[in-house]
Amino acid sequence: MRILGIESSCDETAAAVVENGETILSSVVASQLTTHGKYGGVVPELASREHLRAIVAVVREALAESGSTLDDLAAVAATYGPGLVGSLLVGVTYAKSLCFARGLPLIAVNHLEGHIHAVILEARRGADGESVPELPALALVVSGGHTHLFEVNQGFQYRLLGKTRDDAAGEAFDKVAKLLGFGYPGGPVIDRLAPHGNPEAVSFTFAKMKGNDLDFSFSGLKTAVLRWVEQRDMDAEIAARRALLRNCPHPGVEEWLAATPRRTLDLLASFQHAVIRELLTRAAASAERIGARSLIISGGVACNSGLRAATRAAALPCPVFFPSPALSTDNAAMIAAAAFPKFRRGEFARFDLKAQANLTLA
Ligand code: KG4
Ligand code: ZN
Repeated sequence: MRILGIESSCDETAAAVVENGETILSSVVASQLTTHGKYGGVVPELASREHLRAIVAVVREALAESGSTLDDLAAVAATYGPGLVGSLLVGVTYAKSLCFARGLPLIAVNHLEGHIHAVILEARRGADGESVPELPALALVVSGGHTHLFEVNQGFQYRLLGKTRDDAAGEAFDKVAKLLGFGYPGGPVIDRLAPHGNPEAVSFTFAKMKGNDLDFSFSGLKTAVLRWVEQRDMDAEIAARRALLRNCPHPGVEEWLAATPRRTLDLLASFQHAVIRELLTRAAASAERIGARSLIISGGVACNSGLRAATRAAALPCPVFFPSPALSTDNAAMIAAAAFPKFRRGEFARFDLKAQANLTLA
């Protein structure tokens, strides 16, 4: 039972063929990093144009790599939200056209559900040892657009327990990196530089959450970093890093270290440490509250090596599952995998399916 998954919610055009919800036959991701990098963030109009340019080739490549033709497919699944509406529309429209032309069922997948299934898919393949995340699970989806805690119940029923009230954790990484001249995306650079600084050097405090204590807030942390920078004379240092980035689009750790004094490395380490502490404290509290039998951490920020190490070191109430880095960031294998249980239930979308920028999962 082969499902073609299509993902275009943000700045990656992706297509994948997954068999029986667990075997990845192909997974192609065309990143738009070079397009958006120079603007320090994703430019929605450019993103949709790039998706349009890439979608046909990406789908063809995914089919060819998997040794499939359209005749081998049981269904086509597409991300219909949340995300940038112009970007989502490209994937949704392309999937609809394929289904219409070939008489295939169309499956609508929520991007967040895809991130959760990235972990389940991989655990089934045995990449993370023999064990599979047991339900109910607590899922922390943490990326550039989301910081959400979900209870995952039998039959993949979801309940939202908490979410960010302002910036997503990945967005905080991106904004701090941009402010300091490290370019976009910020997460991978900060991840590589943080081990060179002292995580206790700058202490960041978070306001107590009124109402739902499982909600997150990262905008205060971003402002605290901005204040810290404003109180120091850092213009020359930041300008030097921006110049480095202009001359060398992908600096390595050594190049960044040469352009980054100790106090800034300490700031990065302390910032990352504060984000990790927030994520893990609430994830552990939620897992405990729902009696979770496993903890799933997924989304781009799940690539963070500090987060992975801190999770291994923490005394958590249940086993933890991370996807491999390639399946942590946006991809279409997770979309095809999330579509499989829907396929079995006959949960198909109609051709009037709309892209929904603010789609929720619950
Ligand atoms: O899941 P993803 O590819 O796209 C969204 O759905 O947002 O996540 C991208 C986000 C970006 O904010 C990026 O800075 C962050 O994930 N990210 C990381 C790391 N790798 C990517 N954040 C922290 N550490 C990393 N190693
Ligand atoms: Zn994502």
